[in-house]
Amino acid sequence: MRTQVGIIGAGPAGLLLSHLLRLRGIESVVLERRSRAYVEQRVRAGVLEQATVDTLVDAGVGERLLREGLPHGGIELRYGGAGHRIDFEELVPGRSITVYGQQEVVKDLIAARLADGGDIRFEVDDVAVHSLSAEPYVTFGGERLDCDVIAGCDGFHGVCRPSIPAGVLTEFERDYPFAWLGVLARVKPSAEELVYARSERGFALHSMRSPEVSRFYLQVAAGEDLDAWPDERIWAELRARLETVPDFTLATGQIIEKGVTSMRSYVAEPMQYGRLYLAGDAAHIVPPTGAKGLNLAVADVRVLTEALAGFYADGSTELLDGYSRDCLKRVWRAQHFSWWMTTLLHTFDSDDAYGRRLQTSYLDYVTSSAAAATTLAENYVGMA
Ligand code: APR
Ligand code: PHB
Repeated sequence: MRTQVGIIGAGPAGLLLSHLLRLRGIESVVLERRSRAYVEQRVRAGVLEQATVDTLVDAGVGERLLREGLPHGGIELRYGGAGHRIDFEELVPGRSITVYGQQEVVKDLIAARLADGGDIRFEVDDVAVHSLSAEPYVTFGGERLDCDVIAGCDGFHGVCRPSIPAGVLTEFERDYPFAWLGVLARVKPSAEELVYARSERGFALHSMRSPEVSRFYLQVAAGEDLDAWPDERIWAELRARLETVPDFTLATGQIIEKGVTSMRSYVAEPMQYGRLYLAGDAAHIVPPTGAKGLNLAVADVRVLTEALAGFYADGSTELLDGYSRDCLKRVWRAQHFSWWMTTLLHTFDSDDAYGRRLQTSYLDYVTSSAAAATTLAENYVGMA
């Protein structure tokens, strides 16, 4: 079997790449280890930057997103007994965010690819990539796929990045001594916008998915056992961390999903080796505090699509050669922002009183200075 671009992974990166390539008349095959139901139901973050929304809408896959997505013009930072709104409309006019679950983006992309006759193979075993420096090919489940280029969109635990020979990549990494317990609940959101709350008990985030479904996160210990968190304990802890301002009562409801997400910052450079190009989580990970993961994946894929379109138009590798450089600039801005938001809002066991005062001082600065608030706002909605 032969195609132009062999894509490993049917997450947002692989699926969007396949869709954008088709709009440019470039063929691809997507190979995914999991089932369609699994990837469509995997609950992940849900904040789309303006540029992500624009990309999906321009590519003709934004119809449901525009109908069901929730546009937000700001977020709240809650600490020290008060809430402070960061007003995107005022600070970064014309740019905002849309709350729409990542698995909804995945469903829309799969539906679009299949409607166009796209080739997505789910539940394929033993994917391996070969001959990366010239005439690459992929083997899976006893079959062979020859291609011009391989796109490694197989996430942080995929096979593509580890297939690059030792010594080629430089890795940059930071681990955090905590994780997020994520909860999806059938209950009307108790706030209209996202609430990022810092408290002595640890960080909490109030987000949402729809007028009937709320999404919450609690800072917990790294490697926390879910069994230690029965529903009553989750609600009690959310209440303790969020009901810290006057006139706020947390509405509770049925918990429909819960899971623990580890927190990590990671970048592999360059995002390319020979004919293998890494995109999304396969190349970099951010802690979810700034909600950048999906947006970075979409941005990588936009750059890779342009580069491949250039290559197929006249054989030029100029844009492909600049792919890693062009992506890494944005990746590193998001790395810094995600690390900074994480550091600002979480409690660290190692923190002494001095460290906590620094956090409070910076939060006071961000919530009182237009210059500091704009720094947060423009990074949150996404740098152009
Ligand atoms: N063979 C085939 N598929 C694989 C393999 C493999 N060996 N290993 C992993 N995959 C698949 C995974 O099952 C997953 O569906 O690759 C896909 C990678 O998708 P994501 O992890 O969603 O990564 P990406 O598309 O880069 O999207 C980035 O995902 O982790 C979140 O927060 C992150 O929002 C960001 C987004
Ligand atoms: C989410 O709604 O899942 C979400 C929102 C904001 C974040 C992370 C996750 O920073």
